[in-house]
Amino acid sequence: MSPFVFVIFGATGDLAQHKLLPALFSLYKDGQLGQKFYIVGFARRDFTDEAYAHMLGDELELHKDEVWQAFAKNIYYQQGFFDQEHGYQELILKLNGFDAEIGACITRVFYLATPPDNYETILQNLDATKLSEGCGPAFAEAMAGKQGVDLSAWTRLAIEKPFGKDLNTARELDRKLSDVFEEKQIYRVDHYLGKETVQNMLAFRFANSIFEPVWNNRHIDNVQITFAEKKGIGTRGKFFDGVGMLRDVAQNHLLQLFAAVAMDQPKSFTKESVRDERAKAIKAIRPLTREDVLKNIVRGQYSGYMQEKDVSTDSRTETFAAMKLFVDNDRFADVPFYLRAGKEMERDLVEIKVIFKQTCHILFKEYGCPELGNVLTIRIQPDEGITLRVMAKNPGTKLALQAVDMNFSYHQTFGHHGVDAYEKIMLDILKGDQILFNRSDELDYSWTLISQILEGWTTDAQSIPTYKKGSWGPQEAFDLIEKDGRTWL
Ligand code: BG6
Repeated sequence: MSPFVFVIFGATGDLAQHKLLPALFSLYKDGQLGQKFYIVGFARRDFTDEAYAHMLGDELELHKDEVWQAFAKNIYYQQGFFDQEHGYQELILKLNGFDAEIGACITRVFYLATPPDNYETILQNLDATKLSEGCGPAFAEAMAGKQGVDLSAWTRLAIEKPFGKDLNTARELDRKLSDVFEEKQIYRVDHYLGKETVQNMLAFRFANSIFEPVWNNRHIDNVQITFAEKKGIGTRGKFFDGVGMLRDVAQNHLLQLFAAVAMDQPKSFTKESVRDERAKAIKAIRPLTREDVLKNIVRGQYSGYMQEKDVSTDSRTETFAAMKLFVDNDRFADVPFYLRAGKEMERDLVEIKVIFKQTCHILFKEYGCPELGNVLTIRIQPDEGITLRVMAKNPGTKLALQAVDMNFSYHQTFGHHGVDAYEKIMLDILKGDQILFNRSDELDYSWTLISQILEGWTTDAQSIPTYKKGSWGPQEAFDLIEKDGRTWL
């Protein structure tokens, strides 16, 4: 890895401390960060470089770790207010100093790990101070207009969800991003794309020849995707109450899991081909009218939510959403996709179930037909793996059938669950690989769908259904699927 600078805006926040820094540290331990790198935390509070690194060591309980101590020598701090140029100007001096030390322009990554209402201000200041152009403003000025010099080669911008609150604000943010950075510099992070099991979907579907022939409406009855979290909103009330489960999880993680099932085979393993197919899958979701929203989209709120810290006492924010979607393409015409995501669920479970059509071969009719067709379960987390439910002969002298599971477990096979999603995300940003990052059009399509739901909900005066903590959501979510003669598996 060539030398790089990794600037984290929002360096004292939860994301920086508990996801980004540990991921960078882990890559360091793994020898993946190269010989020379600089991590710069940018935030309001007053710290020296050492005090900031110390605070991180405390927070991560790594003080005594010798490897951490060596890593921490690469950590710097820049105090600054997001809306004041001063901090950015000082940052420029720091970054120029790093370039001088290396004797070359080094790649600069700006990671926006702040609450989203700061994005615009930070982008404006990166632009105004020409930090966005890389290699120092003096160099940028000297090179302005010169042929063959691509200033965008030295800077990358990573930005965390939520990108906007609806289609309009997402488009607005995207315009601002593209005013300052080119698409090839922008890394829109959805950490679910970095999960080992989600990445495996491409390999599993397309590196095996047996799935593709049956991956269509002739063989698949329905698809169920569950994103369940045992935890509630914890201390994130201020953020969550203004966002809700639909925007927090469904717009991004849930729809990306959907895309992993619904997408066609990319022409190649390149960022454009893979992202083309993901985008096409999301675009193909049948648009929802207001009536569809009332009929096919369910929301819920766990009881006690309005008493949570920093939550409005008359909040109508959903902590659960379930939906029935259709995909308007030849492959999946008329196959319902049932998706659900909720907080305070019975347990942590993120999984995809592909339920094949029930078949009862004439040979076995009198010995009992399976209640369900074959079920392929892709366990994203926990207990990462894949199970295929098939029919087998029950051992014994009589002929009787029973459903059994053929199981692949990451843990059993590889002895571990794979690399942490943020490590993969960080590494790909540093390597300049955009495959696992959302392209602008992907987001546009997902926000188009989510905005249809939000609009439908605005006109729905009914009170929001509640559900018990530790359950699987409101009764309405069961009705949604049961009225089609199916159940959540
Ligand atoms: C985040 C959401 O993007 O993903 C959180 O904002 C959610 O609400 C989290 O808890 C889930 O991520 P993971 O990796 O813990 O499953």
